Amino acid sequence: MRIGLIGAGHMGSTLAHLCADAGDDVAIANSRGPDTLRDLELMLGEHVIAATPDEAARFGDIVVLAVPFGHYQDLPAASLAGKTVVDACNYYPQRDGHRPELDDGRVTSSELIQRELPGAHVVKAFNAMRWDHLRDYRHSAGALRRYGIPVSSDDPAAKWRVMDLVEQLGYEPVDAGTLRAGGRKHQPGTDVYTADLWADELRDRIGVDA
Ligand SMILES: NC(=O)c1ccc[n+]([C@@H]2O[C@H](COP(=O)([O-])OP(=O)(O)OC[C@H]3O[C@@H](n4cnc5c(N)ncnc54)[C@H](OP(=O)(O)O)[C@@H]3O)[C@@H](O)[C@H]2O)c1
Repeated sequence: MRIGLIGAGHMGSTLAHLCADAGDDVAIANSRGPDTLRDLELMLGEHVIAATPDEAARFGDIVVLAVPFGHYQDLPAASLAGKTVVDACNYYPQRDGHRPELDDGRVTSSELIQRELPGAHVVKAFNAMRWDHLRDYRHSAGALRRYGIPVSSDDPAAKWRVMDLVEQLGYEPVDAGTLRAGGRKHQPGTDVYTADLWADELRDRIGVDA
């Protein structure tokens, strides 16, 4: 599979590493340009190339957003149209600036991203585990227990594609529902956020019936 990553910091580079390990081809971008990512490109090997955000968006069958939420309006919307887009971002008002509609709970951050990218199929995932735990806590498919990753989307097909990716990267996907209902269950401030729960426990707390 081809994965585009927009954001090459803690989360973006960790996901690039996991995807390359799983045999995916990866294009990864930051805000400063591919030349600033040459060391990372070299370190991660032949399956990872440095790109611009627009190139990463066009490259990916799935494109992961791993930027500070406050930058979501800078994304290459036209190139993301038609794509499965994973929102790994979290809203932190101290970092991202206050958004009244998020502060009073009218919408979720993933719904705002979906509005900004009307042609994309947005799926919220990988937002609720710290980057270093995501790097270290994966298990192979045969393991008796695996850590759960909550996954929310309004688009069932896109959600399945991302659940497959979660599996591939060594975690068990847990369907949390829509961007509104599900997004509220695994955003900062919830009891599952960065709690590193086994999948069965995560499912008990937030899962929806299949
Ligand atoms: N850190 C975690 O443990 C963790 C866990 C789950 C979710 N998250 C969420 O994931 C997101 C990223 O967190 P992080 O810790 O990886 O942040 P980070 O280490 O600060 O990295 C942010 C990355 O985003 C890039 N970026 C910023 N604006 C951009 C733009 N307009 N276009 C392309 N790239 C842009 C930055 O590029 P430049 O350096 O070139 O500006 C940098 O590579 C945040 O929303 C965070 O809340 C983080």
